[in-house]
Amino acid sequence: MNLFEQVTAAPPDPILGLTEAFRNDPNPDKINLTVGVYQDATGTAPVLDCVREAEKRLAAANGSKSYLPINGHPDYIGHTQKLVFGEGDERIQTGCIASAHTPGGTGGLRLAGDFVRQCLGQRTIWVSNPTWANHQGIFSRADLDIAVYPYYNVDSHDLNVEGMITVLEDIPENDVVLFHACCHNPTGVDPSEEIWKTIAKVCKERRLLPIIDFAYQGFATGWIDDAVAIRAFSEYGMEFLVCSSFSKNFGLYQDRVGTLHVVAKNPGESKRILSQLKVLVRTNYSNPPAHGSAIVSTVLNDRDLTQQWEEELKAMRTRINSVREQFVDGLSKAGAPGDFSFIKEQMGMFSFSGLTPGQVQYLRDQYSIYIVKSGRINVAGVNDRNIDRLCSAIADSLKM
Ligand SMILES: Cc1ncc(COP(=O)(O)O)c(C=O)c1O
Repeated sequence: MNLFEQVTAAPPDPILGLTEAFRNDPNPDKINLTVGVYQDATGTAPVLDCVREAEKRLAAANGSKSYLPINGHPDYIGHTQKLVFGEGDERIQTGCIASAHTPGGTGGLRLAGDFVRQCLGQRTIWVSNPTWANHQGIFSRADLDIAVYPYYNVDSHDLNVEGMITVLEDIPENDVVLFHACCHNPTGVDPSEEIWKTIAKVCKERRLLPIIDFAYQGFATGWIDDAVAIRAFSEYGMEFLVCSSFSKNFGLYQDRVGTLHVVAKNPGESKRILSQLKVLVRTNYSNPPAHGSAIVSTVLNDRDLTQQWEEELKAMRTRINSVREQFVDGLSKAGAPGDFSFIKEQMGMFSFSGLTPGQVQYLRDQYSIYIVKSGRINVAGVNDRNIDRLCSAIADSLKM
């Protein structure tokens, strides 16, 4: 027997696997609303102008391809800390935050999982129900047990505040709890500032360890405002972790630029934590990829490029919000039964449409429209060319 005969086929990834199926679909009118990549009005994932300019400058500078430090370039680390925690945060000056550049937000989440499991001996992580499909996979591969807390009211399409707080109040001390900082994936429903304060208070009182997944900074209302959850946990003087990413807000999906930040109570602890993060990184991928972080640093080191980035980020956000309006109008004009105005209230790239798995399958079979099984739609994939077809197909699926 061949040794490899025992290897069974794994199921395709629930989100990226659909893109593969989409590519193989011969229908010229097919629509892909699955993967979380921003698309402009022409349906392409654009390279930001500030990124193109930074790449030009980097090419002209003819730098080295030597290894980066294990936790990334210090210049990059400084910028990402300021974006996430705010320019004047004392903990940055005093060295209380241990940060490591990771391959994307995903790399940061996995490093966070490895850190809490291997260095703190944690067993369980609590995630929202529902959550991004990859969270469960990432943390279970880091040898953590997954538990869920309520998050979303299916019927009223809003946050289940009471259910969430009641369960948080009951979580065993020291357990790890994962939160989405903004643009919750897949629901698009975020806690208000007041609710974040309540969540932070409960976590503090229950001595829970929060990990904040910050993959969409700047996609809700602005990169400063979107850090509301970080500020809430900071105000309670808590220890917590943040996994940030430049995939979406810089459009650097394939360059794998993210960061794990571990907020400690004092510089001594932070130093020891960083030494452990370095061991985890060194024995996994050794050191991070340089190109994307060099782009981020080049942009954020230059006042004009930074301003350009802010404008381009705002343009992405504005387009998504206007598509939400058009989508809701389009559904109503197409005669879709029900009230879809809740879609306008949701934040970020995703809309939790309420479509059932059966309706999602129907849309794929009848119309070559690809949507994640949970009914999550990437609103940025909707444009002038496909909106009418999409809305009438959804209206049809709802009458099934
Ligand atoms: C909630 C959430 N967290 C993390 C990520 C990871 O992003 P990346 O690894 O591409 O930076 C994503 C990407 O879709 C996401 O939606």
